[in-house]
Amino acid sequence: MILFFISSISFAKQSKINGWKMNVIDRCWRLNSEWRRHQSQLATCSVGYAGKMVNNIGKDIIHYKVTDSSDDPINPKPNTLRYGTSIIQGKVWITFQKDMLITLEKPLLISSFTTIDGRGVNVQIANNACLMIFKATNIIIHGIRVHHCKPQAPGIVMGPEGKVIPLGHVDGDAIRLVTASKIWIDHNTFYNCQDGLLDVTRGSTNVTISNNWFKNQDKVMLLGHDDGYVRDQNMKVTVVYNHFGPNCNQRMPRIRHGYAHVANNLYQGWLQYAIGGSMEPSLKSEANLFIAPTIGNKEVTWRKSSNKNGDRWNFHSIGDNFENGASFAVTKGRDMQKPNYSKEQKFKVVNAKFVRSLTRSSGVLRYNRNFVN
Ligand SMILES: *[C@@H]1O[C@H](CO)[C@@H](O)[C@H](O)[C@H]1NC(C)=O
Ligand SMILES: *[C@@H]1O[C@H](CO)[C@@H](O)[C@H](O)[C@H]1NC(C)=O
Repeated sequence: MILFFISSISFAKQSKINGWKMNVIDRCWRLNSEWRRHQSQLATCSVGYAGKMVNNIGKDIIHYKVTDSSDDPINPKPNTLRYGTSIIQGKVWITFQKDMLITLEKPLLISSFTTIDGRGVNVQIANNACLMIFKATNIIIHGIRVHHCKPQAPGIVMGPEGKVIPLGHVDGDAIRLVTASKIWIDHNTFYNCQDGLLDVTRGSTNVTISNNWFKNQDKVMLLGHDDGYVRDQNMKVTVVYNHFGPNCNQRMPRIRHGYAHVANNLYQGWLQYAIGGSMEPSLKSEANLFIAPTIGNKEVTWRKSSNKNGDRWNFHSIGDNFENGASFAVTKGRDMQKPNYSKEQKFKVVNAKFVRSLTRSSGVLRYNRNFVN
């Protein structure tokens, strides 16, 4: 019934099917009932600091289907996920043949120009090692569930570009970025990991984290791993249309050194705080919905003083909505930093009263025949 209308009604009306507003990323591909045949359209839909992921598509793209859920960290077998992310070079677009639970023996290192696309099936990476992007660029991670990630002892693994490399101890994060750039993480569901869910570290930048669902976690998202790593001053991250909660405690995100534009996200409570930072971080919090917890801290922000002369953090809130007594301590006497997006990165931030609707389908999407719910 809905499919019949899609080709004939206007774009504006399409985006309000079923009476809810679709966000600008989703509107770009989900209304196309033929999305399975036009998979790479997704790459043109990103916004924010990652820009458009057009380097991941084109005539020279390699389509790779995972049919085998097993894992060998040193000699990956053809048809496994690790073979696709490490051995295959160039632009690789990875899909999955069927629903799959993949338990990785060691962290999965992802090569540049790789897309992991879990649309249409239920892909879970869980119960041991998880994902790592190390010195790589142009990567899309879309539509997978990553949970119950555990720390990993040092060891050797098949790295990007098909070379075996030694890896030190790795904390139990769902996805860890180390010196990574132009990374888009969209519509994934992350929960219950031993360390954090998403870490952006060591000179990583140009990252967009959109439409994800983060739940059941103490430390959710870290932008800038350590106080001493000043190169993270150049870190730029967009956090948009995500759903945080229930049962998230802190770091949504916690920012060190760099800059985050956090817009149109839904915060379903927290325990310690929602957004925090140290080492002169800058934040533009824009048109989010912060619903304070019934018990616990009502204040959204947390900051750690980084020098004796006083705090140098720069936190601003524009158009945020606060429910249940939530409050936001803004930095006084300093100008808000604008994101300065290019034309490709720019998007219209919507009024916070629409955030529930814009984030309604955050996390892995459910697939109902052709129409994506
Ligand atoms: C980040 O993106 C900007 C363009 O928006 C570009 O000038 C810069 O070189 C990129 N940084 C890295 C480390 O790729
Ligand atoms: C955007 O540009 C202004 C003016 O040049 C600058 O002060 C500000 O720091 C820039 N914002 C970011 C996030 O770099």
